[in-house]
Amino acid sequence: MTDPLYAELLRIAQEAARRAGDLLRDGRPADLAVAKTKSSPIDVVTEMDIAAEKLITDLISGHRPDDGFLGEEGASTEGTSGVRWVIDPLDGTVNYLYGLPTWAVSIAAEQAGETVVGVVAAPMRGEMYHAVRGGGARATGAWDGERELACRPAPPLEQALVSTGFNYVTDVKRHQAEVAHRLIPLLRDIRRSGSAAVDLCDVAAGRLDGYYERGLHPWDLAAGDLIAREAGAMTGGRPGERPNHALTVAATPGVFEPLQQLLEDFGAWHD
Ligand code: IPD
Ligand code: CA
Ligand code: CA
Repeated sequence: MTDPLYAELLRIAQEAARRAGDLLRDGRPADLAVAKTKSSPIDVVTEMDIAAEKLITDLISGHRPDDGFLGEEGASTEGTSGVRWVIDPLDGTVNYLYGLPTWAVSIAAEQAGETVVGVVAAPMRGEMYHAVRGGGARATGAWDGERELACRPAPPLEQALVSTGFNYVTDVKRHQAEVAHRLIPLLRDIRRSGSAAVDLCDVAAGRLDGYYERGLHPWDLAAGDLIAREAGAMTGGRPGERPNHALTVAATPGVFEPLQQLLEDFGAWHD
């Protein structure tokens, strides 16, 4: 039976992700412009990123006023309840800016530093993915109701379809391109969706064999990491580490180990 606290956190996260997803999908201005930039001129924030984060934090605070927040667009409070919400209100902002469909709302709840609930909504797919710690991972879709998520059986690495992402900082991107240059001939193929949260959920759903990226932040990966693990995937950073800013790897067992080792050999991480 699901812990009643986790059940409450899941309900709230799903409601917040659905409402923010609706706002982003239905409220996207035709003349959407960049509101500001962050780590580099191509690391953009739109008014919709900011509006979605406000909607999510207002909604959650309305239900649970004592919880803390870590949100990409600035939400940062300690809280007193022991629960902290880790939020990327719009993961895949560049896709959203260009009108491409792969973007998501990512909301995780942590207790004592462990992610216990993760929700990723991908409105243009009509899908929402969720997981509760120890309770498996599920997707709800516009067409096929609710279904269990399970990563796919491992193919040999040379037949693995692996996604990755590239950073907004040119030097980091150059390094990532060098790693990808060495990796691509050893795989079936590579994908770059533009949303880390969607990549992690696609590993969970068996739509990818693996995913890796350097330079992710907690809000990019908190929800998707739990969803991938609860669907049977392995996740980590460098060998022996949890996913972190230096490196995030998620893959079906059997692909994870050789992929993580190659990334170690190729120096794919950076502290
Ligand atoms: C980005 C996306 C992208 C990944 C970047 C992230 P944002 O998040 O997840 O796929 O490659 O590292 O920063 O900026 O769209 O929220
Ligand atoms: Ca993000
Ligand atoms: Ca974002």
